[in-house]
Amino acid sequence: MAALLLSALLLASAAVASAYQFEVGDETGWIKPTGKERHSYNDWAAQNRFHIHDTLHFKYAKDSVMEVSSADYLTCNTSNPIAKFEHGSTVYELSRPGFFYFISGQPGHCKLGQRLIVRVMHPLQPDLPPASAPTGGDSGWPEFSSTAKLSVVSYFVAAFVALAVTFWLFL
Ligand SMILES: *[C@@H]1O[C@H](CO)[C@@H](O)[C@H](O)[C@H]1NC(C)=O
Repeated sequence: MAALLLSALLLASAAVASAYQFEVGDETGWIKPTGKERHSYNDWAAQNRFHIHDTLHFKYAKDSVMEVSSADYLTCNTSNPIAKFEHGSTVYELSRPGFFYFISGQPGHCKLGQRLIVRVMHPLQPDLPPASAPTGGDSGWPEFSSTAKLSVVSYFVAAFVALAVTFWLFL
């Protein structure tokens, strides 16, 4: 019984990862691209894995951050932001799985590449490399059901291994 309890605890603690704060653009921060960059903001995003409750820290000067729809992201349309921040230091919490779209609110900056798509993992989704961003629409999860089935299987495999190890250690 104690072993069962312990392995349940082990599993639970593995599932609760702590939130992480990402520095958008690393040392460069959130700036208008000069055209000489070797990496775009989306290259930066592709190197990271984002989970619910992680935060994005945008650091900028004489600029702004807008969260926008996918359509407004694609056209760099700054006229209907979902949210707008312009205080130079913005911490944005990724509160749900799926896609988040950010652009600069300064005229011309988005078209030069100051824009970012972040895909937040579904809690049941294994940390696979992010799929390429959608070209339109807002449907984040057409592939969800098969991914979910896979991760449920791997969850049970992990649970079985944890149980087996616990029994081996304690009995
Ligand atoms: C931006 O979006 C608004 C509202 O959807 C629209 O009226 C406007 O024409 C768009 N601007 C551009 C430049 O596409």
